[in-house]
Amino acid sequence: MDNHLSQLKRPREAARREGASVRTPPAGAEVRVEHASRRYGSVDALVDASLHASPGEMLAITGRSGSGKSTLLHLIGGLDQPTSGRVLVDGREIWREPGSARHRRELVGFVFQQHFLLTDLVARANVEVALLGSGMRRTERRSRALELLDEVGLADRAEHLPEELSGGERQRVALARALANEPRLLLADEPTGAVDSGTSQLILDLLAELRERRGMTLVIVSYDAQVGIRADRMLTVIDGRVADPD
Ligand SMILES: Nc1ncnc2c1ncn2[C@@H]1O[C@H](COP(=O)(O)OP(=O)(O)O)[C@@H](O)[C@H]1O
Ligand SMILES: [Mg+2]
Repeated sequence: MDNHLSQLKRPREAARREGASVRTPPAGAEVRVEHASRRYGSVDALVDASLHASPGEMLAITGRSGSGKSTLLHLIGGLDQPTSGRVLVDGREIWREPGSARHRRELVGFVFQQHFLLTDLVARANVEVALLGSGMRRTERRSRALELLDEVGLADRAEHLPEELSGGERQRVALARALANEPRLLLADEPTGAVDSGTSQLILDLLAELRERRGMTLVIVSYDAQVGIRADRMLTVIDGRVADPD
């Protein structure tokens, strides 16, 4: 296994030394939310929210339970649409465009509080699932999945089922899966909500490191204000409103 992985890694490292770009992910996406509101029936989940994230920025969003954080993240990722206002990724309303589901899959990676791994598939196969629509051949998907698991420090757990992994390890598999399509925007919704505080710090460190290395934009929602330490900026959502930091 180790030998196999070091073979995978070597060409990338050699290419990096020579200044070539082998599967270098494109730069992070720009996010702009303009006066977005979301109403569910009579509930104003989000009210007149505006924010901006520059390409490659790490933005933390905190706030109490029920304040509207997930709603805001879903709007940014195009999983949900605003009742009014606009959400632009690289200046475009992605969910309005033809083929938006595919476009979103290629552009955005999601990590949730629950890992949503398929319980009867080993870690590697769970990551491979995300590559099914990529046009890669089976052997290629397999190597790529192993490479991604290596990137999150789980090379030696690749052939284990989710039930054989710790909570933190499962979350790292979910992260490897989220990175499979080289997202330019990674959205994490309480990614440490279901693990102990030590593991939580490790996952936050890993997210920050991946953002740095890949240059992707990272928006991370957490009720844990600790997340703000690693972020470039932190916003707070209070009763559906994004509090002005100034
Ligand atoms: N799909 C939905 N249908 C109805 N109400 C919802 C839905 N999603 C969220 N809400 C409500 O919107 C508010 C904000 O929820 P949410 O964005 O999940 O908050 P948070 O992530 O900060 O805990 C809550 O009052 C919640 O009950
Ligand atoms: Mg939430």
